Amino acid sequence: MLSAVGPPVTVRVPAKINLHLAVGDLRADGYHDLVTVFQALNLFDEISVVSTHPRRGADHADGPDVELLGDVSEADRAAVPLDGSNLVWKAAVALAEVADREPDVRIGIRKSIPVAGGMAGGSADAAGTLLALSTLWRLDLGREALMQVAAQVGSDVAFALHGGTALGTGRGENLVPVLSRHTFHWVVALSDHGLSTPTVFGELDRLRAAATAESPVRRVGDVEPVLEAVASGEARSLALLLGNDLQAAAVSLDPGLRRTLRAGVAAGALAGVVSGSGPTCVFLCADGPDAVRVAAELAGAGVCRTVRVAHGPVPGARVTDGDPAR
Ligand code: C5P
Repeated sequence: MLSAVGPPVTVRVPAKINLHLAVGDLRADGYHDLVTVFQALNLFDEISVVSTHPRRGADHADGPDVELLGDVSEADRAAVPLDGSNLVWKAAVALAEVADREPDVRIGIRKSIPVAGGMAGGSADAAGTLLALSTLWRLDLGREALMQVAAQVGSDVAFALHGGTALGTGRGENLVPVLSRHTFHWVVALSDHGLSTPTVFGELDRLRAAATAESPVRRVGDVEPVLEAVASGEARSLALLLGNDLQAAAVSLDPGLRRTLRAGVAAGALAGVVSGSGPTCVFLCADGPDAVRVAAELAGAGVCRTVRVAHGPVPGARVTDGDPAR
């Protein structure tokens, strides 16, 4: 490991859930057109970056040092690559290219967002890296330019920078903020294993190809009522409208999720839905105390690894330490 030069910059970055996720057909580029409503929850990863001594003869093909910090389970250590396939690595190299400099940095990732959980943890870490490095390098890029680099790194990276509640289209990277002055209370049920995002999208394609008129794969409805429910702040209205086209695919690959979804509602949640490509399930509750009650009951039901109480919307990636401008 290369030694550090200068003080670190630390960024906190939230997990996302999808209140609505409509998946279109497979595009020629391997992606699907989406119409989605993202919400950022107060489940945060932390990214710290520090400059390292330059490598002799280094070029942009040489990436940063990436390490996991804190208590890391064996499963997470196995599932989070520290090489060029990590979105954090890609983010650092992409930003270094824009800034025309070497990515001579060490990046520490402290994870609370579940790995391969459908909450965009890897994208959050990439977004945190972009903000941390643009601060460390004192780049005067502007928000739009940073969002463009984010979109290039991954479909959910731009939203992790943006935060709040937003309507996403295209691959999910075209964002429009959604008016939401109200807080929603959630219980998050984490699984003891992950699901791969491309596998879940592929399973949806397979289910749709195999569907018949008698047994169609249902699609979520229009997004407008969801936006209205978010604006109204009425959890009961939103609960009726939560929907995710990837849920059928996630449940097909991991049938135990059906039990988890039922158990959350039986425990008193207004509604439950698979988050993104799963296997994390999220449950909307009437208020904060209700969420605590639902979480306690769900934790005892033996249908998930662990539960968290969360709320949203919360802001996107923020510098918490080391910003010279603060
Ligand atoms: O962009 P990102 O790396 O997050 O996407 C991971 C994978 O998820 C893609 O390679 C693709 O298989 C799938 N995906 C998709 N349509 C999207 C976003 C992701 O098919 N809009």
